[in-house]
Order: sequence, then C-alpha cells, then structure tokens
Amino acid sequence: MDSGKVLPTLFLLLRLLPVWTSPSPTLGLSSRLNVNDTLVSPWGHFELGIFAFGPSQGPKYQLCIRYAAPIEQVVTWVANRDVPLSNKAYLELSTVDRNLQLFDPANGLNKRLWISSNTERIAITAQLLDMGNLVLMDSNGTITWDSFKNSSTTDTLLPGQYLYKNDTKRNTLTSWLTNDNPATGKNGTYTFGWGTLASVSGPI
Ligand SMILES: *[C@@H]1O[C@H](CO)[C@@H](O)[C@H](O)[C@H]1NC(C)=O
Ligand SMILES: *[C@@H]1O[C@H](CO)[C@@H](O)[C@H](O)[C@H]1NC(C)=O
Ligand SMILES: *[C@@H]1O[C@H](CO)[C@@H](O)[C@H](O)[C@H]1NC(C)=O
Ligand SMILES: *[C@@H]1O[C@H](CO)[C@@H](O)[C@H](O)[C@H]1NC(C)=O
Ligand SMILES: *[C@@H]1O[C@H](CO)[C@@H](O)[C@H](O)[C@H]1NC(C)=O
Repeated sequence: MDSGKVLPTLFLLLRLLPVWTSPSPTLGLSSRLNVNDTLVSPWGHFELGIFAFGPSQGPKYQLCIRYAAPIEQVVTWVANRDVPLSNKAYLELSTVDRNLQLFDPANGLNKRLWISSNTERIAITAQLLDMGNLVLMDSNGTITWDSFKNSSTTDTLLPGQYLYKNDTKRNTLTSWLTNDNPATGKNGTYTFGWGTLASVSGPI
C-alpha cells in the first residue's frame, strides 16, 4: 500500500472504531441500556446492566453493578431490589429531568420503577467508574449523583465507599433476602448504618 492510501485507510478505521468498542463507559442523554447491554468501567473492572437473577421461577432481571468477568460476577449494587424486571426493561438518562430512569413496558408503559434522585438536573452523562461507582456528571465533569452515596439498596461496601450520616441524609447497607434474591423481604433482612439501626429480626 502506498503512503497516499495509508492515511485515508487509517482515517476510515478510526471513524469505524466507536462501532467496535461497543461496551461503553458512558451513557449519554436519551441513550438507552437494554437487558444484557453493559456499561463497562474504563479498565473493565465493573459493569452496569440489567442482568438476570434467580434460579427457580425463570430469570428475573435487576439493574445492578457487578464485578465484570472473568472475576466472579459478584453484585455490588442493585437499584430496584424489590421490583424484578422483565426482559423488556431499559435504563435511560432522561433529557427532561437529567436523571437515570428505569422502565419496564411489561409493568405499565410509562411507569418509572426507579430514578437516581439527583435534584440538580444538569447531568449530561452517566459513567461507571473503576471503583465500582456509578456517577452522573454535568458538562464540567462535576459529579452530581453517585451510587456509592445511595447504597441503601445494596449489601456491599467497596473500597473507597463509606457510610455517612448528616442532618438530612444517611446511607446504609441492607442484606439480601437470599443469595440469589436481592429483595428486602419482610423477614431476615438486616440494615447496617449510622443513626437508628432498623433491623428486622428473623432467620437469614
Ligand atoms: C440475557 O442473558 C442471560 C444470560 O446469558 C440469558 O439467559 C437471557 O436469555 C438474556 N436475555 C435477553 C433478553 O437477551
Ligand atoms: C437513594 O435513592 C432513593 C431513590 O432514588 C431516594 O429515595 C433516597 O433518598 C436516596 N438516598 C440517599 C441517601 O441519597
Ligand atoms: C461549568 O463551569 C463554568 C465555569 O466555572 C460555569 O460558568 C458553568 O455554570 C458550569 N456549568 C455547570 C453545568 O455546572
Ligand atoms: C448530606 O450528605 C449528602 C451526601 O454526601 C450531601 O449531598 C448533602 O449536601 C449533605 N447535607 C448536609 C446538610 O450536610
Ligand atoms: C416472619 O417470621 C415470623 C417468626 O419466625 C413468622 O411467624 C412469620 O410468619 C414470618 N413472616 C413471613 C412473611 O415470612
């Protein structure tokens, strides 16, 4: 190949690259993440997705963050732990209120099942960081919401994450119902954190 052709070829390859590098670390405004699509952290340590759970009555889907393969895919964060999803569910970064929103057409067409509670409404991307933290960022790269601070929905504390308590908010950890069911349940769910410790007694 002569040098006159190398540059256009390289240019063409670069143009094609975004198509190939499909597990992306960011979700832009109005982009969707469907069942089994993944948002992968830059170094590939963690992935966010709507993944199947549970053995017996067919898979139920949950929006969660887990260690990416080939490490054992331990789940570190679950959004909708008490509302299992169908295989039609999707996550969207809403253009209107700039929050991550979870929908499941099988559960009512416009019924929102989870939202990322960011009150500033200036986010333009959602990104999964290598610490395992899902964040919303504004146009300056400032983090306006992060899953580490909203851990109430999960049972795992990762390195770099902490349990805090102030006048208005605190985050906590809450155990799963069983090993393959993140639901909170009525019995056998324990909560750990600052302040009033709400623990429900019963068998684990
Ligand atoms: C998602 O992946 C799981 C596990 O690989 C598979 O069993 C399931 O059929 C997939 N669902 C969809 C909707 O692709
Ligand atoms: C976590 O998110 C839920 C639902 O989005 C919200 O109701 C709750 O206030 C949040 N908790 C913290 C500690 O931010
Ligand atoms: C980004 O930073 C500039 C300069 O500090 C500021 O004027 C602007 O309001 C910021 N934008 C957002 C979305 O915070
Ligand atoms: C409480 O902590 C949350 C999370 O760190 C923070 O967003 C909020 O501003 C804090 N509120 C006060 C009154 O310190
Ligand atoms: C919770 O545990 C108590 C005491 O073991 C039991 O009587 C009750 O039926 C349980 N409730 C549920 C919903 O499993």
